[in-house]
Amino acid sequence: MLCYVNYKRVKKPLRIPNLEVEIGFGRGDFIVKLAKENPEKNFFGIELSQVSVEKLMRRVQREGLKNVFCTRIDAYWGFYLLFEDESVFNIYMNYPDPWFKKRHHKRRLTTPERLYVFTKRLKTGGRIEIRSDDYDFIRFSEESASFLGCFDISLEELSVREPLTKYEEKWLREGRKLYRLILLKRGEPRFVPHPTIREVEALFPEKVKAKRNKFGELENREFKLGQSVYLKTFKLWEREEGFLIECLLTESGYYQKFFVQAKRKGEDEWVLDVSPYSEVLKTENLQRAIRELGKALQA
Ligand SMILES: C[S@@+](CC[C@H](N)C(=O)[O-])C[C@H]1O[C@@H](n2cnc3c(N)ncnc32)[C@H](O)[C@@H]1O
Repeated sequence: MLCYVNYKRVKKPLRIPNLEVEIGFGRGDFIVKLAKENPEKNFFGIELSQVSVEKLMRRVQREGLKNVFCTRIDAYWGFYLLFEDESVFNIYMNYPDPWFKKRHHKRRLTTPERLYVFTKRLKTGGRIEIRSDDYDFIRFSEESASFLGCFDISLEELSVREPLTKYEEKWLREGRKLYRLILLKRGEPRFVPHPTIREVEALFPEKVKAKRNKFGELENREFKLGQSVYLKTFKLWEREEGFLIECLLTESGYYQKFFVQAKRKGEDEWVLDVSPYSEVLKTENLQRAIRELGKALQA
């Protein structure tokens, strides 16, 4: 298996034994150190930053590590899509972005809904370890954990001699206090409603009857496909064999950009499908989006 896991293509859930996960690995210092010290375990890093992912991939290859995997996705969706319940031994978050402003708190990695999904995937007896220099964020995370009602919670001030990560090094240099919150899972978390998406095995093309001049109407439109599900269209390109439409689908906060192609099959007959050059996560709403474009053409 390659270090990089393409979450759009891979068979889910992943079945990786002795699995631990780091959220937001940055330069990769911590995950690489863990992997070297524990060759019998597997480590999976989830990152939003493409640059970080590429750096980790190069490092893993250079150092010949066989027990490090990673993907680029928001950690919530990474856990939601990739792992089975009760399958992850430990979860680490080192200096995640604490989103200081109150109105941004809902973006924090440790809101009850996110922590709920991380906790479901964590094995009972496993730990979530969070390091931060931001006491307000630590308290916020502690509150979310208490709400889930399934942890032994401990908080300590760290006295670090060898910094684990780039940010730890930085905060130490600036003389900041550092904290570690440890959440030990003792049982099932209290249910928290959380965003969901549903994958499908395959996407089906949509046959449509429409005049060629109707396609212009698809440009720069917005469609509401369901609760918290929106399709936006942007530019339309006309080609010899049909059209290409630039689209953005947002479903419960998961979003993907892709192109829909319309291929001419006969007089006023078209087939709509996701362009083969767009790699997508196949979801029910993506199928709905193709259908909706078809309906708009026939309206
Ligand atoms: C402040 S940096 C810390 C990096 C590293 N852990 C360290 O201590 O040096 C936070 C990292 O978390 C990543 N990150 C933030 N939110 C994330 C999310 N929702 N899912 C995955 N990664 C995330 C960012 O891209 C960034 O690399």
